[in-house]
Amino acid sequence: MEEGKFITFEGGEGVGKSTQLARLAKALSAHGIDVLPTREPGGSAGAEQIRDLLVTGVVERWTPISELLLLFAARADHVEKTIKPALSCGTWVLCDRFSDSTLAYQGYGHGVRLEVISQLHDLVVGKFQPDFTLYLDINVDDGLRRANNRKRLSSHELVGEEDRFERMNLPFHEKIRNGFKKIVDENSDRCILIDASKDENCVFDAIFQAVKGRFSLA
Ligand code: TMP
Repeated sequence: MEEGKFITFEGGEGVGKSTQLARLAKALSAHGIDVLPTREPGGSAGAEQIRDLLVTGVVERWTPISELLLLFAARADHVEKTIKPALSCGTWVLCDRFSDSTLAYQGYGHGVRLEVISQLHDLVVGKFQPDFTLYLDINVDDGLRRANNRKRLSSHELVGEEDRFERMNLPFHEKIRNGFKKIVDENSDRCILIDASKDENCVFDAIFQAVKGRFSLA
């Protein structure tokens, strides 16, 4: 059986990744493709527990290195228990964030050395990489504003606010955006930049065209 494809969505806060990922999942299913939407941190029972530790609580809850190790502990579980088994059954896995987020947030954002992150990546997941990465780009002010609006709208349903990273300061988020752009430039064979400032339908059209082109779908 042919392996499924591993597609990741990346971007800063409030870029609309989750909405676009759900739309792509629906569109690919309509093409007869078996799809598994998942996310990081999270995506397996253990990794979802680690997610809670990472995305809730005070900003200073973790040092950058502790944060990095928690993310990799979650990723190891997610890759082995969720992603690889699905791919080997021919299922396409759509993942909301993956290792580029670690380079952008912990590397470019918090200043952890990029070699340390790539060494950990090799140790934990080896050469495993996405087949295609869609980086959704929007200016930082607009993204944080969207993320805040979303939080206000859904606050009645939230068990604990998942906004630990959103509360980090503006220069941190600027560094992340610049970091993502650098990652896309340096990995242009795998990554594409999508302008996420446009309206939701236009953004989706751009994403779907890119995915169809990449995987030669009709
Ligand atoms: P989400 O809000 O997109 O679900 O992601 C949760 C947060 O986790 C987000 O603010 C970014 C952060 N994060 C990292 O800092 N490094 C990582 O490697 C990943 C996967 C997420």
